[in-house]
Amino acid sequence: MSIEILRLGHRLHRDYRITTHCGLVARAFGATKMYYSGFEDDKITLNLHKVNDSWGGNFEVQYLKNWRSFLKQSKLDGSFIILCTMYGENLPDVEQEIKSIKNNSNIIIVIGSEKIPSDLLHLSTLNVAISNQPHSEVAALAIILDRIFSGKQLSIQFDKARLKIVPKKQGKKVIYDL
Ligand SMILES: C[S@@+](CC[C@H](N)C(=O)[O-])C[C@H]1O[C@@H](n2cnc3c(N)ncnc32)[C@H](O)[C@@H]1O
Repeated sequence: MSIEILRLGHRLHRDYRITTHCGLVARAFGATKMYYSGFEDDKITLNLHKVNDSWGGNFEVQYLKNWRSFLKQSKLDGSFIILCTMYGENLPDVEQEIKSIKNNSNIIIVIGSEKIPSDLLHLSTLNVAISNQPHSEVAALAIILDRIFSGKQLSIQFDKARLKIVPKKQGKKVIYDL
């Protein structure tokens, strides 16, 4: 079953790095696709596709004009919508529930930028806090993916990579054009 991300409310220029980092974390840690809403920004898609070209895999990026209708339809189609918000249930309390859902349903993890629209708090299937303290969408995403995949995402091998790192205690070694 797949795990996809919805990054809400992208703001041009201001959020470029953070939205790109959400995509990088999503890709590296086992999600298959990132949707984003707010301003359409082709640079986000282009840069994440460049990462696929070099580092492999087929991570997808798609702009959504209407995230509400997307989420409503996805829910009707059986996807499980997890909203990351500090107001939700704390991750350790729902971790097992999320893991068992992962085996049966597609999961869409929603992360915000500015204030989360209040109707989303009811549209989601589960609101999850990665601690009930304010921090960052990038950290929230990394931690929830780590819990969902129980750390196995750290060893993903990406198909069709042109670059591969040979881990070294000191220095660096990269194999090119595999
Ligand atoms: C930096 S916060 C933005 C907070 C914004 N100032 C507000 O008033 O909502 C951006 C996103 O990070 C995620 N986030 C931040 N802290 C979180 C937490 N403790 N648990 C889960 N997600 C969190 C949420 O998805 C949130 O929408």
